[in-house]
Amino acid sequence: MKHLLSIEQLSAKEIETLLESAAHLKRQRGRDGRKLEGQTWALIFTKSSTRTRVSFEVGIRELGGFPMFLSKNDIQLGRGELIKDTARVLGRMVHGAIIRTYAQSDVEEFAQYSGIPTINALTDDEHPCQILADLLTVQEKLGGWDGKKIAFIGDGFSNMTRSWMWAAKRLGFELAIASPPACQPPAEFLTALDAPNVSITADPKVAVRDAHVINTDVWLSMGQEDQKEKELEFAGFEVNSTLLAAAAPGHIVLHCLPAYRGKEISEEVLELHADTIFQEAENRLHAQKAILVALA
Ligand code: CP
Ligand code: NVA
Repeated sequence: MKHLLSIEQLSAKEIETLLESAAHLKRQRGRDGRKLEGQTWALIFTKSSTRTRVSFEVGIRELGGFPMFLSKNDIQLGRGELIKDTARVLGRMVHGAIIRTYAQSDVEEFAQYSGIPTINALTDDEHPCQILADLLTVQEKLGGWDGKKIAFIGDGFSNMTRSWMWAAKRLGFELAIASPPACQPPAEFLTALDAPNVSITADPKVAVRDAHVINTDVWLSMGQEDQKEKELEFAGFEVNSTLLAAAAPGHIVLHCLPAYRGKEISEEVLELHADTIFQEAENRLHAQKAILVALA
């Protein structure tokens, strides 16, 4: 594995190996070894971040390396310098790059031209680091995903749902997505995915019925803030106690955060499941350290 650009590009074995390493690194935190000793990793972010930025910066330091945060306004990228030029410069100076931006093709181009390990820290297409942390949380809370039904309530074609769909394709668990018709994945994507274990419905109750994991995310992803008409599509899609009454006994709730209470999730449900949701946030650190160790 040279880069971590998407869940789509990972095999089941690679996902499982990363999760084993993450669990190991979590158990032995503070006794990490210094796999990144002497290395500088650039974080190039053109979108906001709390969890991803902090967990990568802390993780790199814990592994002995040095994180260099570069917002797009700090570097000439923000003034129109080409990605392929930026990549060839940074590739001669730093040891790895972690990129949060809009187009997936920008991260792929950076990886191609820089020649250094490149990690997707969220694009419009995928959020692979988050899904690895979510899978680690499912393992910890439920012992794994075999025989489990995972539901996703919200935007059916966001970076989160796309990464979840590829995870279901690779790992074989049942994934039921409830999304308003206008926000469902297009037929071409589902044909390319070719995963009979992934179902799409417009009825949140159908997706949640007997589900062991109920997952949600913001209705408007970064870059869509002014699409108020899209938000109107989500009436009836709040993850609340009425909806969860149909879920399997012992179910867990995941939210990648940030959360908007009273929109995609109720205050009551978020607080009832806060232990899981903030464990999920912590697991970003452990999952990403596993990625760094694998790529360093
Ligand atoms: N879940 C997540 O990626 O959070 P940030 O946007 O705060 O990094
Ligand atoms: N789908 C969300 C995830 C945030 C972590 C977004 O892209 O804004």
